[in-house]
This record gives sequence, structure tokens and C-alpha cells, in this order.
Amino acid sequence: MDLFSSQQADKLIILPDAYLLKGLALPEQTELLAGLQDVISLSPFRHMVTPGGFTMSVAMSNCGSLGWVTDRSGYRYTAYDPLNDAPWPAMPEAFLALAQNAATKSGYPDFQPDACLINRYNIDARMTLHQDKNEVDFTQPIVSVSLGLNAVFQLGGFQRTDKTIKLPLAHGDVVVWGGSSRMRFHGILPLKAGLSPPNITPALSNCRINLTFRKAG
Ligand code: SIN
Ligand code: FE2
Repeated sequence: MDLFSSQQADKLIILPDAYLLKGLALPEQTELLAGLQDVISLSPFRHMVTPGGFTMSVAMSNCGSLGWVTDRSGYRYTAYDPLNDAPWPAMPEAFLALAQNAATKSGYPDFQPDACLINRYNIDARMTLHQDKNEVDFTQPIVSVSLGLNAVFQLGGFQRTDKTIKLPLAHGDVVVWGGSSRMRFHGILPLKAGLSPPNITPALSNCRINLTFRKAG
């Protein structure tokens, strides 16, 4: 028997139940970027305000039947975009297919994401350490796709002050965390200037885009 038959060269274990699927999104990048343009033409990027009154440095939008929002009254999922009171744009086929492929490769063959949060990081934008805990079912994983500029992802423990692993993420990389890692603190260090991939549309150059897929409801 091939000792390595259950291993995949492109699947790296970061921590138990947390995987890096290096470059998994690359073959689908054209469809992903086209889907992204469609979504943000309906629900544009906007800077939301935290319950504490801070404007987030990351600009956000959503697609799927639920979208993550924050304002002075708290963090939550909504079925409607508060900017236009319309339902969030449908999740593009290419988004769903990639999220399910990544989840299946990570041991979650039944992942049915109903929410895709879209984060846009311009230079210096960052995401401080937090847990994803506005979802109903924590047995479902998080699938997180990186496009555009490189960034440094931090994956920590179960307390904000626990030490973190710092993982460089490039265009096309996918990170999946679930199971015993589902509630780990995570974040993104302030984005540094760099070179955008050559094929990126002008509206999406000079930034990093992150697609975070979740089963929220
Ligand atoms: C998030 O945790 O919402 C975003 C993570 C990332 O941008 O990679
Ligand atoms: Fe998160």
C-alpha cells in the first residue's frame, strides 16, 4: 500500500482540524472574480461600524441567503442588505463549488454554506483577533478564500491572549478550520503593499479580498 495515499501535497495541516489548501482557488479565479464583480455591483463594499462605535478598516459585502453585519446595535446575520433593503445577492455557482470542494477535502462533505462574507483589505487594513460565533451550528467549519495581495493570517487559541501561528496567505489559498479548531481566535495583520496578480481586474487590484463561507442559520 502506498503510505502516502491518504496525503495530499496541497493540503497542509496548520493545527488539528485546521488546514491550508495552497492555491486551491487558482483554477477558478476568473469565475470567482467575475462573480465578485456581479455581487458588489448589487451590494457594494461598505465600512461597517462596531457596537463600540469604531468604523472597521476592512470594507465588507455579502452574498448568499444570509449576510453578516455589524452596527451600533450589535453583530448579527440578516437576510437583507441594510444599504438597499434588498436580499443579499445570490451566492455565485463558482463560490459555492469552491467552498464545498475545500470543505470536502477537509473532512466536511456535507457543508452547505448559506452565508459568504466578502472582506476587502486596502493597504493597512486589518482584522483584529476574534472568534466566529454568530452562527447557530458550530459543527460546521469555516472556509476562507484569499484573493489579491498577500496577507498574514493569525490563528490562535481559545483565549484572545493565546499565542498565534502566523501564516502567509497568497492569491488562491484556502484555509478551512472546524471541529476542535472551530472556535480559535483568528485575524489578519495590517496589509502591506505588494504586487497584485497580473490578471486581476482594476477594481480589485492593490487590495486583498477574502471570501468567508459559513453555515450561519
Ligand atoms: C475573517 O475572519 O472574517 C476574515 C479572515 C481573513 O480575511 O482571512
Ligand atoms: Fe473571522
